[in-house]
Amino acid sequence: MDKLTFDFHKPFRLQAATNSGKNVCGTCSSCRGCRSCDYDCKSNRSQNEPQDPGEDGSEFYIQWHITHRCTQQCKHCYGETGLELGDNDLLRIAEKLLTFVETCDRKLLVVLTGGEPLLRPETVIRLVKSLGATVRCELLSTGHPLHSSPDLLPRLKALQTLKRIQFSLDGPRSVHDAIRSPGSFDSTLQALKLVGDAGFETALMMTLSKRNAASIVEVHEIANDLWGNARKRLGFDRFTPCGQSATKEETSQVCTKEEFKAACEAALAWRAKHGWGNNGMFRPLHCLLDPEAGAACSVGISGLTIMPDGVVYPCRRLPVSLGNALHDDLLELWLENSFLNKMRNPTSVAACVSCQHLHICRGCRAAAYAMSGDAFGSDPHCWQASS
Ligand SMILES: C[S@@+](CC[C@H](N)C(=O)[O-])C[C@H]1O[C@@H](n2cnc3c(N)ncnc32)[C@H](O)[C@@H]1O
Ligand code: SF4
Ligand code: SF4
Repeated sequence: MDKLTFDFHKPFRLQAATNSGKNVCGTCSSCRGCRSCDYDCKSNRSQNEPQDPGEDGSEFYIQWHITHRCTQQCKHCYGETGLELGDNDLLRIAEKLLTFVETCDRKLLVVLTGGEPLLRPETVIRLVKSLGATVRCELLSTGHPLHSSPDLLPRLKALQTLKRIQFSLDGPRSVHDAIRSPGSFDSTLQALKLVGDAGFETALMMTLSKRNAASIVEVHEIANDLWGNARKRLGFDRFTPCGQSATKEETSQVCTKEEFKAACEAALAWRAKHGWGNNGMFRPLHCLLDPEAGAACSVGISGLTIMPDGVVYPCRRLPVSLGNALHDDLLELWLENSFLNKMRNPTSVAACVSCQHLHICRGCRAAAYAMSGDAFGSDPHCWQASS
């Protein structure tokens, strides 16, 4: 098939720019690295923060959950049980992804995760190899399996395209271990040192709930002590009740607007003082604190999630089935799916239509879905919406 020359985020941004009266260049997927734009986000970044090749919007992002299995039982986790495709089916999906991005004239970033992806180490290695030399790959892992399989890290390092490994850090030792499991904090930091020493780029992610929102500065301090002047990436995102954590008890652990806002403010203040950190600022709602730091999410624009059975979701936290990556035509799914098309329409979220931040925000659709059942409802944490 001939290459297509569409650019979904361009119409979205240009329409939104017209509405807002802002000058938005419309060339990037998450409003970073702009040229002739009112939101010159690059000016907000420090030299210690890795600039990803995909930040110009040329990469399509696949978050690929290859297993539900895990050694931990984190309280907030969306983890479920169910069918897990075998390697041959996963390799078939990898082939289809390559054809898809070739047709769309995009590069591909594949983030392998779970569950714990390193419980399927041979699958990780086969998949990364099968994706070839041009696809950037990352892992989201606990790192724990690296301790019991010392030969695994050099085998991962031999994969030229596996560039970055991200772990979770949900607080100082007592907070992190209470959310995750006893010993998890120390195991994670040891694994972080191992992969850093092996030459991987490393990243930490904090999942924010009532259990740990007050620890956000401490997490930054721990990361700072660990990394020193090395290249670093630290993000945080909101706990979104879904999968096995969509219970009344867990939902009561979602931060209030005020708690979330306070955590964002603390992270932003830390960033201003230290000159790095908090890459998670480039997310919906963060524009309310710093218009240069906001970014609309990639759902419907430049990314999809694949589940262990091949089911495709817009995002792991937005469990609306769009089809199956093994059985369906990916290009048709991407172009024709009515849910994705609604996501691309800037007027789909009534609560955001007249907001000045629409083109760099429109809230988190997964959070709206989790808290109201309506993916196009208002973001439950938007503190502007109530004012
Ligand atoms: C599913 S885990 C997979 C990688 C690895 N097991 C880990 O915990 O880092 C990836 C990230 O998703 C986060 N996560 C899990 N369930 C979540 C939920 N319901 N809402 C928001 N984030 C969630 C985890 O805290 C972790 O940072
Ligand atoms: S958040 Fe990660 S480590 Fe925790 S149970 Fe879920 S998949 Fe496992
Ligand atoms: S109203 Fe919508 S676009 Fe505006 S800040 Fe709130 S969530 Fe973002």
